[in-house]
Amino acid sequence: MIGRLNHVAIAVPDLAAASALYRGALGADVSEPQELPEHGVTVVFITLPNTKIELLEPLGEASPIAAFLAKNSAGGMHHICYEVDDLIVARDQLLASGLRVLGGDAPKIGAHGKPVLFLHPKDFNGVLVELEQK
Ligand code: CO
Repeated sequence: MIGRLNHVAIAVPDLAAASALYRGALGADVSEPQELPEHGVTVVFITLPNTKIELLEPLGEASPIAAFLAKNSAGGMHHICYEVDDLIVARDQLLASGLRVLGGDAPKIGAHGKPVLFLHPKDFNGVLVELEQK
């Protein structure tokens, strides 16, 4: 079921500073910031040869990463995203295995314009897992 690693997402308290760090110290290819109000984040995409890194900064009052940053003030790894061939088939298999999908079982459109689902971190060794339709 599981396919390529699509991205690793890192929550950051200061997106401009984090972008400058990756661009400067690491020489990374860092996109312009993109506001995603429906997800409560501003994101930059860092393109690596084999995957992507996303830096996430809270946007708005009800940002889903605000609580995470309250606990991790310097920022931290927030989730990893795997690609799957068929998100609905993957979801149904996971639910049948007793694993939990967050926020209802219907896919939402993610930061890349493709359907995504999030899986409960307590079911995956403390890591929030995002699945993205390939
Ligand atoms: Co993601």
